[in-house]
Amino acid sequence: MEKILVVDDERSMRELLELVLKRSGYSVHTAENGTTALDLVRQNVYDLMISDVKMPDINGIDLLQKVKAVSPETQVIMITAFATVDTARRAWKFGAEDLLIKDAGFDVEELKIQVAKVLEKKHLRQENDLLKRELRQRNSLDNIIGRSPLMQAVYQMIETVAATTSTVLITGESGTGKELAARAIHNMSPRAAAPFVSINCGAFTETLLESELFGYMKGSFTGAVANRKGLFEAAEGGTIFLDEIGETTPSMQVKMLRVLQERSIRRVGGIEEIPVDCRVVAATNRDLTRMVEDGTFRNDLFYRISVIPIEMPPLRARGVDIPDLVRHFLEKYSAQATRPTLDIAEETMHYLESYDWPGNVRELENTIERAVALERTVRVEPERLPERILKYKPRTITDVDLPEEGFHLEAYLSQLERDYIIRALQRTGGNQTRAAEILNMSVRSLRHLLDKHKIRQTASLLREAGGLSDTVAHK
Ligand SMILES: Nc1ncnc2c1ncn2[C@@H]1O[C@H](COP(=O)(O)OP(=O)(O)OP(=O)(O)O)[C@@H](O)[C@H]1O
Ligand SMILES: [Mg+2]
Repeated sequence: MEKILVVDDERSMRELLELVLKRSGYSVHTAENGTTALDLVRQNVYDLMISDVKMPDINGIDLLQKVKAVSPETQVIMITAFATVDTARRAWKFGAEDLLIKDAGFDVEELKIQVAKVLEKKHLRQENDLLKRELRQRNSLDNIIGRSPLMQAVYQMIETVAATTSTVLITGESGTGKELAARAIHNMSPRAAAPFVSINCGAFTETLLESELFGYMKGSFTGAVANRKGLFEAAEGGTIFLDEIGETTPSMQVKMLRVLQERSIRRVGGIEEIPVDCRVVAATNRDLTRMVEDGTFRNDLFYRISVIPIEMPPLRARGVDIPDLVRHFLEKYSAQATRPTLDIAEETMHYLESYDWPGNVRELENTIERAVALERTVRVEPERLPERILKYKPRTITDVDLPEEGFHLEAYLSQLERDYIIRALQRTGGNQTRAAEILNMSVRSLRHLLDKHKIRQTASLLREAGGLSDTVAHK
């Protein structure tokens, strides 16, 4: 049952409205002044408020404003004996649905019709919002293909962060779908109706990037012929996607940090601080932790942007997703070529599943696009695949010697790990940063292993001679 609040200081009017509306099947509360009405609105959810304009305590228009602030969903019909243009304008401005005149012959029937109309409209709008929301959600996560547990975890993260305004950092190799994920976050967020603005930070020189992001004032440099808004301002209320953030210069990093801290920007050549309200999603295929250690990426900016990290898994780590992706792209590119969806030979699929996809989903997508273009039959045969995929040999296990009586695997691996670390340190004369590079790990991981294996860098350790294990110095 829909709930209506009637506010009028005149008792006969209150009683009349209550009676009429109750008879029409609504649940009705009444208030004899604005203060009581506000109290009621704070405690109850009303679909509609019908309020007099002229009342002794709070004026009806003020009440309208206050009610809308507390409960924007509540529709409002104002009633007045003296309709001036000014009252009408203000009622409309503050969100009233209708303004009815109560003169001598107050028309109860008309009121009933208006109430029904307003409530119907509200209902439709709600339904519409729900549908739109649903559509958006379907649109966004449905674009991302993959049912592997790794991807399920990604979807869950996307859904969780979509509801927040926190800054998100999406990491992952090239072609893993970072931009797709960023768009999904935006589309599923309350900001979906506002713009999603994307910029590839790696594609601009520093000065260009600055004027793209922050805009500029006329005359601030040659070519600045008029004031121009930057992307942060263009993304107002929405999301800005800073792609390849790892490619930015140190001084640009300082400027970005400033925006994230102050939540305001200054145009190039401008003095005014312009507040910006936009959600920042950043992405990179570089190892930012390592760049922080090397000093090429600012620590403080890293912590600001990585409030919530999402890692897009490489395709080779989720081979089970390959058949789904293949079918998805077959459909897409067959449709683009206005052909019936091509089938795929089992053998072709086998090649695709055995390959390691260094270019991830993008490489798979390009492969299918090309195969669809080349295939003249209704089924994609292996010959349509590029050489590198047909020739690819998955790494097989090396010839290992497993003794009859068994073998202590962990101790062996641990010793091996230790020996490699010491070799690397010897080769670099004890330089941990370079040793970590040789071993393809972060300095932090290397230090952790030095601790774990109790390796101390002594002069004798670093001398690259003799049996390895003997030269190791213990703590
Ligand atoms: N899970 C997926 N499902 C469907 N399409 C995908 C998926 N992941 C990526 N793609 C598609 O692969 C292409 C590359 O994706 P995207 O641009 O999002 O990758 P990226 O991680 O941003 O790559 P880069 O680091 O090279 O910019 C796009 O065409 C995208 O639509
Ligand atoms: Mg990208």
